[in-house]
Amino acid sequence: MKRLFIKTYGCQMNVYDSARMTDLLAPLGYASADRAEDADIVVLNTCHIREKAAEKVYSELGRLKAIKHERQNAGGEMTIAVAGCVAQAEGQEIIERQPAVDIVIGPQSYHRLPEMIARIARDKGHALETDFPAVDKFDSLPDEAAPRGPTAFVTVQEGCDKFCTFCVVPYTRGPEYSRPVAQIEAEVRRLAALGTREITLLGQNVNAYRGRCSEGSTFSLAQLIERLASVPGIERLRYTTSHPRDMSDDLITAHGRIEKLMPYLHLPVQSGSDRVLEAMNRQHRADDYRRLVEKIRNARNDIALSSDFIVGFPGETEQDFEATLALVREVGYAQAFSFKYSARPGTPAAAHAKQIPDAVKSERLAALQEVLGAQQDAFNRSCEGQTMEVLFEKPGRRKDQAIGRSPYLQPVHVERSLTRIGEIHDVLIEAALPNSLKGRLAREGAGTH
Ligand code: 5AD
Ligand code: SF4
Repeated sequence: MKRLFIKTYGCQMNVYDSARMTDLLAPLGYASADRAEDADIVVLNTCHIREKAAEKVYSELGRLKAIKHERQNAGGEMTIAVAGCVAQAEGQEIIERQPAVDIVIGPQSYHRLPEMIARIARDKGHALETDFPAVDKFDSLPDEAAPRGPTAFVTVQEGCDKFCTFCVVPYTRGPEYSRPVAQIEAEVRRLAALGTREITLLGQNVNAYRGRCSEGSTFSLAQLIERLASVPGIERLRYTTSHPRDMSDDLITAHGRIEKLMPYLHLPVQSGSDRVLEAMNRQHRADDYRRLVEKIRNARNDIALSSDFIVGFPGETEQDFEATLALVREVGYAQAFSFKYSARPGTPAAAHAKQIPDAVKSERLAALQEVLGAQQDAFNRSCEGQTMEVLFEKPGRRKDQAIGRSPYLQPVHVERSLTRIGEIHDVLIEAALPNSLKGRLAREGAGTH
């Protein structure tokens, strides 16, 4: 029996890709190992979005090299593959910087992993594959080898044509591509049959989805969601990540119309300053975003919003930053991610003359996170005393405890519910903890059982 270990960095699409790589290698006799030390093949599925993410890969490769040498000294072998966005962005450079690497494979090429493994076994050389044939990839992936659990990600769209000036995604993930409706529906039906109850539709720019449907026309994301909501066994649908420019009216009204579409929306704004938004090439103003939020809340008034923010974008003034804080205060977020701007080689903003000192970035990040943290706490506290449907996903740390998710994506810890994993139950929220909620089964308290 051969063993495979995949270490995943970065976004949910990488998590999905890692699961598919596991499916791809299962027919070749590879079972999963829990750590690199026990594996014949180690894949690092990497992230290039910020400098820190990319640097982590090289330090992990240093560690793997030592393991590989030890193995070789004992007469064994180990194959190291670098997949994902660092592979795409840096290609050959990776092999030059770390010769222990055998395979470099971009996110659009990983369906060719079996062939590349065979090739290096034969030739003992390095193998590099970083083309952009997204269509081939989805056509050549096998069906899932194992159930993915009560919640699963499904990639429906990949790549991005937006070219925000700070972002590597259009370069690492390539141009926008939408998978055909029938292919997605078939995957969702298989997952539902294997016990999945909640699907998160993934795409770098998911709401720009335009997929071919069998009738020869295309479906929007809203139409796709409507179709998937009718799949037996699927109880909940989510999608991420959306761009404000592509938040069409049919998608907004879908939130009011389709009950299985969960009341949570990740809609990154990045900045509240029109000047910065323009320099970022975001293609909308702060007021456009405010109006959008209003429309979305009119369609579904309990929707919980989330966003991404970048502080210290080149040229960002104190006034620009204040505009971001003002927007955050106005909108009110249930959750958010915020980052210091990180200059990425090859992106237009990296060459900008007015880079912001790190100390200023840190100060702004702390100020922003204080406001966002307070909003998240307030949102979680507002849930206390409410009864909400929780989909139980996995065991908790305590005996007989399970962890599930609320409709608003908050983790919820519930005692005496381990046997309910995979099911949706009413839970009375008793307390808001810093990053999660604590509750009890609503029926228990009512004394009906
Ligand atoms: N620096 C900092 N944050 C970035 N993001 C993307 N590129 C950069 C960068 N160069 C953030 C954006 C995006 C999220 C996934 O990562 O906020 O929405
Ligand atoms: Fe990057 Fe998102 Fe902008 Fe595309 S829309 S370039 S993925 S930040």
